[in-house]
Amino acid sequence: MAVELETLETEIESLEAETLRAVAEATTLDALRSVESRVTGRNGTLGSRLQSIKDYPPAQRGQVGQLLNHAKMRFAKIFADAADRIRASEAANEAHRASSFDPTLPGVRPALGSLHPVTHVQWQVEDVFQRLGFIIETGPEMETEYYNFEALNIPALHPARDMQDTFWLNNGMLLRTHTSPVQVRAMQRHGPPLRVLAPGRCFRYETVDASHENTFHQVEGLMIDRHISIANLIAMMKLLLREVFGRDVRVRLRPGYFPFVEPGFELDMNCAICDGTGCATCKQSGWLEILPCGMVHPNVLRYGKIDPNEYTGFAFGLGLTRLAMMKFGIGDIRVLNRGDVRAIVSPERLTGPTIKSVD
Ligand code: PHE
Repeated sequence: MAVELETLETEIESLEAETLRAVAEATTLDALRSVESRVTGRNGTLGSRLQSIKDYPPAQRGQVGQLLNHAKMRFAKIFADAADRIRASEAANEAHRASSFDPTLPGVRPALGSLHPVTHVQWQVEDVFQRLGFIIETGPEMETEYYNFEALNIPALHPARDMQDTFWLNNGMLLRTHTSPVQVRAMQRHGPPLRVLAPGRCFRYETVDASHENTFHQVEGLMIDRHISIANLIAMMKLLLREVFGRDVRVRLRPGYFPFVEPGFELDMNCAICDGTGCATCKQSGWLEILPCGMVHPNVLRYGKIDPNEYTGFAFGLGLTRLAMMKFGIGDIRVLNRGDVRAIVSPERLTGPTIKSVD
């Protein structure tokens, strides 16, 4: 819409004053651009006036056009100057930030993660037994048939070999099915009296389910001295579970057959997943076999070059993987082996059962 030339002049003057004020307030290029489009953009105040030149009578068009085009150039300069100022101040800020970086300040500490539940209980068990004078021994994971079976009173063709599904290797050796081979190795190396704890990884050709894995952890315990009895064994096992769980744990002792102990027992603990009411982990029984144990068989002592008439001893094979499941309430053993970080125990969680099966 065409307005009087004079009106147009005053309008431009006040627009210019207003624009200078808005531009002075703009501190970012984005803010500046939005002022610019309000003023000189196609639909902006000056922009639409430029569109309306053609609406003036031909005689006036020259003057109006000149007025508006001069204004347009002045506005362009206002915006260009303001953009330069904003860019310069952004660069100065950036330079200040860069110069204020202090390389001597401590960095951001990366999260280191925490212990695997099995490692946690292993260290805890080691700690309990070290206080009782036990030494820690390790043995090979690739074992000879002799130490895994023969020296443990399980001769070739003895049906007890079928109790443990074994991974046989092409070189005639095997992946140890339990940590018991360390018993005889330790007896041979150290002689009596002996208190030894042997944690480690074991392998069985198992069908994997909620409570069985082909790779799992045990800790073997062996105590040999004069006059060692079943009473000593039971007292130690109760102490162990009490220390690990931080409370008295309900246990039951059943006769159990292992060729390397006589008598042999299965020490079961009340299932901590279901509190004894029955679940998949305890196969609905409410109990979990956790501590097979017994008095060392005289033949095994002989294999270890120890006189059974002079010495007796007890041995136990604690399922570390199961113990970790019970302690932290992990319902499915597969969680522990698949590297799932949800099974990793954060320090706050180390005190009680918190992790449930993630299936
Ligand atoms: N080695 C046995 C197993 O894994 C457990 C065990 C160890 C039993 C020591 C008695 C004594 O089945």
